[in-house]
Amino acid sequence: MSQQVRGVVARGKGQPVSIETIVIPDPGPGEAVVQIQACGVCHTDLHYREGGINDDFPFLLGHEAAGIVESVGPGVTGVAPGDYVILNWRAVCGTCRSCLKGKPQYCFSTFNATQKMTLTDGTVLSPALGIGAFAEKTLVAAGQCTKVDPAAPATAAGLLGCGVMAGIGASINTGGVSRGDSVAVFGCGGVGDAAIAGARLAGAGTIIAVDLDDRKLAWAKDFGATHTCNAGTTDPVEFIKSVTNGNGADVCIEAVGHPAVYKQAFEARDLAGTVVLVGVPRPDMTLELPFIEVFGRGGQLKSSWYGDCLPSRDFPMLISLYLQGRLDLDRFVSETITLDDVEEAFHKMERGEVLRSVVVL
Ligand SMILES: NC(=O)c1ccc[n+]([C@@H]2O[C@H](COP(=O)([O-])OP(=O)(O)OC[C@H]3O[C@@H](n4cnc5c(N)ncnc54)[C@H](O)[C@@H]3O)[C@@H](O)[C@H]2O)c1
Ligand SMILES: [Zn+2]
Ligand SMILES: [Zn+2]
Repeated sequence: MSQQVRGVVARGKGQPVSIETIVIPDPGPGEAVVQIQACGVCHTDLHYREGGINDDFPFLLGHEAAGIVESVGPGVTGVAPGDYVILNWRAVCGTCRSCLKGKPQYCFSTFNATQKMTLTDGTVLSPALGIGAFAEKTLVAAGQCTKVDPAAPATAAGLLGCGVMAGIGASINTGGVSRGDSVAVFGCGGVGDAAIAGARLAGAGTIIAVDLDDRKLAWAKDFGATHTCNAGTTDPVEFIKSVTNGNGADVCIEAVGHPAVYKQAFEARDLAGTVVLVGVPRPDMTLELPFIEVFGRGGQLKSSWYGDCLPSRDFPMLISLYLQGRLDLDRFVSETITLDDVEEAFHKMERGEVLRSVVVL
């Protein structure tokens, strides 16, 4: 028996989202139905609504979530009804060429549910990042459910399902930030601030936050930025050099997704340093760099999907640090809202008023 729940759907490019009745099939082999308790509003949801990811409308939005497994399909052994889980968009396959090379964090063939969720008229929904968690319940591949300690509230735990994991991982996993490093983070939304928190966890010495919004810069300090730069009034490249003995930062993290900002990150980097792109560009964007500088500066230009995380390794570890008081996930939660407030939360995000609005169900 399928069931019907409420969910937030983006029907067309740039159109305001609407609340729709979603049909959730019973879980088939390898699948699970999860009762969502909390789901953060990530900029990637807005990218979907803007048509910036692909054109597979209608989308069932939401992908940064935690909840309780309600039921599992045949053959599922990793999770059981009643388990408290964070949903992940990297359910590794174990058999693709990256998994076989021992690098499951780059898995090229991640699992999603095989069956489709639909509207009541049968229209197939595309769940954001294969999750679709701005809904009372959702259908996912069982491997997308990562069990964590239920002592962590869903409002905090769910954030690890996307933006906060992407940011922390951009610093620690992709950027390889280590003790004493200088780190510059461009864009201090949820992802950028998580990169700052990750740099602090990894023992970075100097952490420079760059944004256009002074309010965001003030919040960045709370997460561990030692210096802040408003790129609207101060040249961030010059500023970063000025606080790193004229050298530039060891690791520059771009958390906006804009070629002009990427260029700043490229130029603000020390010789042999690392640039990490975690911001998501629009498909029409192009990047131009002096080729001789790409060669001459050496180092690494890397992209970070989901912070190169391995959910089974990283989620329980970060929840443990949270419960020990060493990683302040609650600080990311600017407000808790309902499913009806997601459209307004997008506008608050655009106006820079929030780090994370979190839907609580
Ligand atoms: N790679 C991944 O796996 C992954 C995961 C989640 C989100 N993302 C992407 O990361 C980006 C950030 O997401 P978010 O949820 O933090 O968004 P957000 O909108 O909350 O934050 C973006 C920040 O960038 C700032 N900004 C905008 N233009 C700027 C500029 N020119 N210079 C400096 N700062 C500028 C804004 O003021 C804002 O504070 C988005 O592109 C999102 O899609 C990537
Ligand atoms: Zn794989
Ligand atoms: Zn996201």
